[in-house]
Amino acid sequence: MEKNLLVLLKEKRVFEPPKKLVQEANVTKWMKKKKIKNYEDLLKKAKDSEWFWKEAAKEIVSWKKPYKKVLEWKNHYAKWFVGAKYNIVFDALEKHKNKKKIAYIWEGEPEGEIKKISYKELNVQVNKLANALKKLGIKKGDRIGIYLPMIPELPVAMLACAKLGAVHSVVFSGFSANAFEERINDEQANLVITCDSFYRKGKTIPLKKQTDEALLEAPSVKNCIVIKRTGEEVPWNKKMDLWWHEITEKESSNCKTEILDANDPLFILYTSGTTGKPKGIIHAHGGYAVGTGITLKWVFDLKEKDIWWCAADVGWITGHSYIVYAPLILGATSVMYEGAPNFPEPDRWWEIVDRHKVSVLYTSPTAIRMFMHFGDEWLEKHSLKSLRLLGSVGEPINPEAWIWYHEKIGKGKCPIMDTWWQTETGSHCITPLPITPLKPGSATKPFPGIQADVYDKKGKPITNAGGELVLLNPWPGMLQGIYKNPEKYQKTYWEMYPEVYLAGDVARKDKDGYFWVQGRDSDVLKVAGHRIGNSEIESALVSHACVAEAAVIGKPDEIKGEKIAAYVILRKGTEVSDELKKELAKHVGKEIGKLARPSEIWFVDDLPKTRSGKIMRRIIKAKVLGQDTGNISTLSNPEAVEELLDAK
Ligand code: WT7
Repeated sequence: MEKNLLVLLKEKRVFEPPKKLVQEANVTKWMKKKKIKNYEDLLKKAKDSEWFWKEAAKEIVSWKKPYKKVLEWKNHYAKWFVGAKYNIVFDALEKHKNKKKIAYIWEGEPEGEIKKISYKELNVQVNKLANALKKLGIKKGDRIGIYLPMIPELPVAMLACAKLGAVHSVVFSGFSANAFEERINDEQANLVITCDSFYRKGKTIPLKKQTDEALLEAPSVKNCIVIKRTGEEVPWNKKMDLWWHEITEKESSNCKTEILDANDPLFILYTSGTTGKPKGIIHAHGGYAVGTGITLKWVFDLKEKDIWWCAADVGWITGHSYIVYAPLILGATSVMYEGAPNFPEPDRWWEIVDRHKVSVLYTSPTAIRMFMHFGDEWLEKHSLKSLRLLGSVGEPINPEAWIWYHEKIGKGKCPIMDTWWQTETGSHCITPLPITPLKPGSATKPFPGIQADVYDKKGKPITNAGGELVLLNPWPGMLQGIYKNPEKYQKTYWEMYPEVYLAGDVARKDKDGYFWVQGRDSDVLKVAGHRIGNSEIESALVSHACVAEAAVIGKPDEIKGEKIAAYVILRKGTEVSDELKKELAKHVGKEIGKLARPSEIWFVDDLPKTRSGKIMRRIIKAKVLGQDTGNISTLSNPEAVEELLDAK
């Protein structure tokens, strides 16, 4: 690792984009039409962001009724394309409804299970489900909780909701029953959709059982629609459960798409923040369609013949935007895979790439580092020659992983689009285009129409030093708020600097205007690219009968980027043991999901606190990582800092 670190620091190469790629890029064609000379010129021209987004909208959407105003900006809320009548389903589905073209090539985890679904078939499935939902009383504005793995019915369910103007809220299938319950209660879901069970690493995960647990305490939910995925037997509640195949079978394959306002909500997606409770991020139909559509078209340069594989889970924003909505809007063919990357062997992904001739692949640094770790011999049997462009998202990519991805997967010929964005931003914000010179480890520059900067504590722009990443003007994919929590919206994003959007990331801007995102500030963790609030894990720990207090920090991890370390004060009289550590980790898994289980649990007698009683995670982290803790004299118990080293 020492040596690798040196490589990392020395990596100063700039990778110019291949000429042919530049000439043929979607963005180049558009620039020619607009008489824009080059990349820098494009960014300059797009500083007139309302002009830019108006033009982008023309490339992506067909309004049912045109808008009156491009942007209305009030009290930190943006309404885009005001007055337009629209439904994202018009562009994602209806436009393609007669096409034989494949929308999804789906692979189940068990080998040999492959399904290809055309746009025509997708449209029929969506309409049948939408009709069934209508019969169950679902209407515009209702909330539908979707708890599903990576199976084709997941996009079908989302689109059927959108079609009726109902708001979907997908919860990652790796989250626990408790996490699902918390979310469907927050949004007061009217109905939920789940499946019997699904495959993961050769085992089955009993999702229906977990759903039932969640529904015990979710009185707003009237029905539960169940997909038969594995055929395993499931508990059945006659009062509310319905089989998907039974209720859709006899439905008509036509269903009218609800004509909505462009700013009506499309979905809620929960994400972690600084408090113990996740926040429901809201996205609307119109602006979100424009933001996701144009970024996929330009950043990943999708053309008619491409085979696109965004290897994320639909349960996260990456999947919402770049497995479901944007690829469908562009009429692309996407690969969707149910299972684990290393099942049955560590080359499953490369098998999939060759089998379906994937041309553009989008994944996370954690996945890339995991494949590096498996060893290059797993690549030998696979040509990967169909690939032409690669992408990275979710966390900073270390230059070493970047170079490996470029050389071993991209064979030195595929540029890497390192895209920075968030659940809140809906679509890529800081990202290269295929015409951008690349610096490994940098997400390069803002997408046209977006302006970003790095501010110091006082709100002054700084260059070549770490500071707060901010976005200076609204963009169409921007969140429409936090579900039923306007105070939190103002506080989280607009309190520190009232004029600009605070991303919550630490970043540096170099002298060429390239952005280097270093990571979240201290209240949110990024574990394997998943965003988890430190305090969410702390509240889960404290909810265990043996725990009095807890502080959670992230420690560097070679593969996952960060791993979770918990410092725990036990209740008086509790015996310290390894069993207890296991039990606590399991407890967190039950409260939130396996992804939140601490890798390390340390028992301590005290935790450093301010005089007002706030636990100082930053100081704990510095101390246990052997870094400078700064001035600790203002703590109420400075001796607790040294004692951390005696943790058991
Ligand atoms: C946070 C957002 C965006 C979809 C997946 C995650 C980190 C994201 C990058 C990148 C460095 C990145 C940031 C951001 N992040 N992409 N290319 N380079 N960091 O969505 O769960 O809302 O997390 O992920 O810290 O704030 P999310």
